[in-house]
Amino acid sequence: MVINGRELSASLKAQMAAQVVELTKQYGRAPHLVVILVGEDPGSVSYVTGKSKAADEVGIRNTTLRRDASISEQELLDLIAELNADDTVDGILVQLPLPKHIDEDKVIAAIAVEKDVDGFHPLNVARLWLKQSCVLPCTPKGIIKLLKSADIEISGKEAVVIGRSNIVGLPVAKLLTDENATVTVAHSRTRNLAEVTRRADILVVAIGKERFVTADMIKPGAVVIDVGVNRDSRNGKLCGDVDFETCEPVASYITKVPGGVGPMTICCLMENTIECFVKRMNR
Ligand code: GUN
Repeated sequence: MVINGRELSASLKAQMAAQVVELTKQYGRAPHLVVILVGEDPGSVSYVTGKSKAADEVGIRNTTLRRDASISEQELLDLIAELNADDTVDGILVQLPLPKHIDEDKVIAAIAVEKDVDGFHPLNVARLWLKQSCVLPCTPKGIIKLLKSADIEISGKEAVVIGRSNIVGLPVAKLLTDENATVTVAHSRTRNLAEVTRRADILVVAIGKERFVTADMIKPGAVVIDVGVNRDSRNGKLCGDVDFETCEPVASYITKVPGGVGPMTICCLMENTIECFVKRMNR
């Protein structure tokens, strides 16, 4: 069975669109998301375009601020300070990665925590790990929604996450732990990786290597969630980290790239923007 992230995100966006109509009446304006894009990285440009399109669909006012890759760290920090102070801005997202001369940690920490729609601010990360109320990072949140939408039992299951990034691997491992899975985080230094992944009832792959997971690495009947966004070296098309053709017959549930996790990430960004807006309006 393919878990269709595009379908699920479309239905969630329709619900949010109705909610935003009501919120706009209630508070006199729509939520406002500002996305900062530095440079011209094609992947980042395409992500940012997708975010803006989704915001339009949901009725979220959205502004994309494009800056040259040569922008200084201080100029970027000044821009963020300006948006922090702007009461008409509810969410701020700085598209990553940033050019090498800019310290990403410093930039993320500069975003007002109440406007951190990515859930990347150190205070939101701490709140996540302490199980306190917080903005959840979009991709991990979207993955849990995908699993729940397919009525997949998480509690008591063996979950293996391949990848230990701050954006996906570590937070999704935490959310799966909170759902009572037994979680292993595997990565590039893991020995006998296939042996580890074959234990997984739920396998989340976020490693960024095209067709990295093959059928022999999957336990029959496992649930496979593919977070990868790669260019297929055979045809230049978008592809995931999982070799879909060979893995699909072995898995019970599997996601596709595109049309799996990606749309859910964007959908959760819309949800987080609405959440930040409502919180700010009720301060
Ligand atoms: N780059 C890749 N994924 C993300 C994301 O979820 N948020 C931001 N800001 N940048 C990204």
